[in-house]
Amino acid sequence: MMKAISYERYGPPEVLNLKDLEKPQPKANELLIKVQAAEVTKADCELRSFKLPVNWTWLPMRIAIGFRKPRKQVLGMYFAGEVEAMGQNVSQFKKGDQIFGSSAFRLGAYGEYVCLPETYTVVPMPDNVSFEEAASIPLGGLNALHFLRLAKLQWGEKVLINGAGGSIGIVAIQLAKTMGAEVTAVDSDVKEEMLQNIGADHFIDYRKEDFSNGGQTYDVILSMVASTPYSRVIRVLNPGGRYLLANPRLVDMMRAGFSSSFTDKKVIFAFAKETKEELLTLKTMIEQGKLKPVIDGVFPMSKAAEAHGRVETEQRLGSVIISMQA
Ligand SMILES: NC(=O)c1ccc[n+]([C@@H]2O[C@H](COP(=O)([O-])OP(=O)(O)OC[C@H]3O[C@@H](n4cnc5c(N)ncnc54)[C@H](OP(=O)(O)O)[C@@H]3O)[C@@H](O)[C@H]2O)c1
Repeated sequence: MMKAISYERYGPPEVLNLKDLEKPQPKANELLIKVQAAEVTKADCELRSFKLPVNWTWLPMRIAIGFRKPRKQVLGMYFAGEVEAMGQNVSQFKKGDQIFGSSAFRLGAYGEYVCLPETYTVVPMPDNVSFEEAASIPLGGLNALHFLRLAKLQWGEKVLINGAGGSIGIVAIQLAKTMGAEVTAVDSDVKEEMLQNIGADHFIDYRKEDFSNGGQTYDVILSMVASTPYSRVIRVLNPGGRYLLANPRLVDMMRAGFSSSFTDKKVIFAFAKETKEELLTLKTMIEQGKLKPVIDGVFPMSKAAEAHGRVETEQRLGSVIISMQA
């Protein structure tokens, strides 16, 4: 048996309960991973509450994860842990390897153990960070790297990151700085100091100022905020500029094709592919000191509801982590 944070209905953080569940057994191509730490992401909170930031995803998501109640009762996508055992066809890993990665839509990282095929986005952990720090990287890192590569960011370009204080934004700021960009971070004032400490050159508090009215223009705008007004963003993009939407609304996706085809600006909406190559790149950057994990707090499994509450208050200054060993 193993302990896992489980939920049986959609709802507030209190639907999460610590339970004893069957310990999973690896298939021939799978790793049995002893999870040490998992990040609590905004997407976990959205799957738990079924309150989604963009309406068009409601029906496909409900079909995918369970119409009346969640089909998978253990959430958690991004984790760090240790290989405890493996199926007979596994060749890339051995018992005791410290690894980090993504369980994608298999979920299950909120349990003491999870089984994943070795082909999933799982790679050796950076050798200079804790399990908690490693678990904070895959979500933000895989998304930020994917988006900034799509933007083909050039040295000296001006980048604006909207929703910069979330998991994706915190890594995006650091990556954009290593790519030689001048970075403006947009979020609420409580995050200003933290965002400047990780490299943001300028800060805009969206509650006091609209970044599209400040007279500045940008080469790349990356937005994690679904409600970002499309036409105002396009207006402050320089010729040749790129607008990347991490949380696209249906109407924005329809307008993206028009803007990209008939103007000198490109609008890109994308879903991160989450490849091993990307995660290995992030591992190297951490080992070289170019990317630093930012942790807001570490919670034991018994306080999972509080951890979700902390993510939903949006006051967090970095990643919220559940430690399976605390
Ligand atoms: N496309 C993909 O492949 C992909 C992958 C993963 C996640 N996502 C989606 O991306 C979203 C964000 O992910 P995340 O974990 O990085 O972010 P997050 O934790 O939701 O953070 C978003 C940040 O934006 C701030 N914010 C809220 N309203 C804002 C506004 N109007 N202007 C500027 N900032 C604002 C929030 O702070 P305050 O509320 O304090 O102001 C918060 O710091 C989630 O909804 C998730 O589902 C997409």
